[in-house]
Amino acid sequence: MARFDKQTILDMTETFVRGVCQKREDGHGFEHVDRVRKMALRLGKGVGADPFVAEMIALLHDVEDHKFEKEADAESFLGSFDLDKKTFVTILAALPMISFSECPIPPEDFPIEGKVVQDADRLDAIGAIGVARAFSYGGSKHRPMYGAEGSTLEHFDEKLLLLDRYLNLEESKAIATHRMEFLRTFYDEFVAETKALK
Ligand code: ADP
Ligand code: NI
Repeated sequence: MARFDKQTILDMTETFVRGVCQKREDGHGFEHVDRVRKMALRLGKGVGADPFVAEMIALLHDVEDHKFEKEADAESFLGSFDLDKKTFVTILAALPMISFSECPIPPEDFPIEGKVVQDADRLDAIGAIGVARAFSYGGSKHRPMYGAEGSTLEHFDEKLLLLDRYLNLEESKAIATHRMEFLRTFYDEFVAETKALK
């Protein structure tokens, strides 16, 4: 089994994930993964997270996303490196638990590296980027923007407008405050503009 230094593993993982994301709409493309990685590293600094583990979880967190056809296997990719057992297990076990729909509230013993990636992923679903991602995804599925069952605006009510209640760290909650204000303003404005035409 190959032994690489951490930076080489990160670089190879980035290349792998870029490939996996290629066919996805931009809301779930590599730019999303890159934002989550950067935010996770920023949040992780304040709480003593292992930067390598956090970055690996961030890079791999959407490889096996149930919304998309399975194209790659995170476990066999990760297994191709000679990581120590604890690191391997921590990264692998965290991956299916990042998603809000799979794991809205993590168990007490969820590692801090998983918690920072959860928060980073959730912060990327609110604010201006969150609005853009929701319509990017909804558009890719040919969903109506509003006014019908399964519309993108419904997704705001069901999930996005509630996301700040599901953050682990104080720093994430502080970042979320402004983003949630913007999200609510956008939502109210959108509803007002559509209602004004009735
Ligand atoms: P998670 O993996 O945490 O459950 P998702 O992958 O469902 O999160 O959400 C990631 C992004 O996709 C978010 O920006 C979210 O707004 C968008 N998204 C997911 N489902 C929908 C939907 N039904 N309509 C619009 N956007 C959606
Ligand atoms: Ni994600």
